[in-house]
Amino acid sequence: MTLILGFDDYLLPAQQLAKSLSAAFKKVALHQFPDGETKVTLPTTLPQQIIICRTLNNPNAKLTELIITATAARNQGVKHITLVAPYLCYMRQDIAFNPGEAVSQKIIGNLLAAYFDSVITIDPHLHRINKLSEAIPISQACALHATNAMSAFLQQHFSQPVLIGPDEESEQWVKAIAQPHLWNYTIATKARFGDKDVAVTLNTHDKNNIKAVSLTNRDVIIVDDIASTGKTLEQAVKQIQQQAPLSISIIVTHAFFVDNAIARLKDMGVTNIWSSNSVLHSTNAFSIVETVSKHLTTINIKD
Ligand code: R5P
Repeated sequence: MTLILGFDDYLLPAQQLAKSLSAAFKKVALHQFPDGETKVTLPTTLPQQIIICRTLNNPNAKLTELIITATAARNQGVKHITLVAPYLCYMRQDIAFNPGEAVSQKIIGNLLAAYFDSVITIDPHLHRINKLSEAIPISQACALHATNAMSAFLQQHFSQPVLIGPDEESEQWVKAIAQPHLWNYTIATKARFGDKDVAVTLNTHDKNNIKAVSLTNRDVIIVDDIASTGKTLEQAVKQIQQQAPLSISIIVTHAFFVDNAIARLKDMGVTNIWSSNSVLHSTNAFSIVETVSKHLTTINIKD
């Protein structure tokens, strides 16, 4: 039987994944020593093939603990280790923007490739590369999408919304959600000047510049992969409000919303803020567990 190993900080989704796969679940216990090091304790009996499920927000300590866990599992005789990390850290720095900057995507990708046979994640931030295996050089590196889960969720709440992608990269997700329902969508243009300084310009037409997309009196939903500072969303909301929509909602895969971003967006008049459980957050409204489970079933992870 397949075994899922989980950690206290991402317990429920890992347990749900085990349930969905009819797999056993066991916990890795962590103990923080006073000096900041971590003692990692694994179950004493492990099968030849295991799945470790832990999302990688707050990644620095988690990466160390994952490496210790994977190595200890190998020392117990485990032959195949899959990492399910619904949020995959360090994917954004994919080139050196300035001399001396480390390309963390490649460095962390190589590190994960050295310890895991298979890595599965959801909507990683792959900007200048097409495939996750270009960042994590193993054949079984798979990037799944939250769009099916988002689409099913949004359908329960709206019949004819207009979707907005706040930047070019978001087009892939917006299109995947909007097109099956024939929902209107438009993609904005974003310029970033700093971590918390962005400008978003709305387009008045659809992507092909054919159909005018009006937001007036419409339920508008902004779709993005990640909300970090929330500044991208704030700027998009400001622009959308100028067209007097009926309501503005936000849906993202990975919710960080640092520095009171939720309060600021609510104060601006955003009605709904929803996210997936790829990162545990008060906005979690839909789950990526079935998406991961279906994928694991199709690739036939063996006992
Ligand atoms: C950028 O390309 C991403 O898709 C997000 O739009 C961005 O990372 C969000 O960051 P923030 O919330 O800090 O504006």
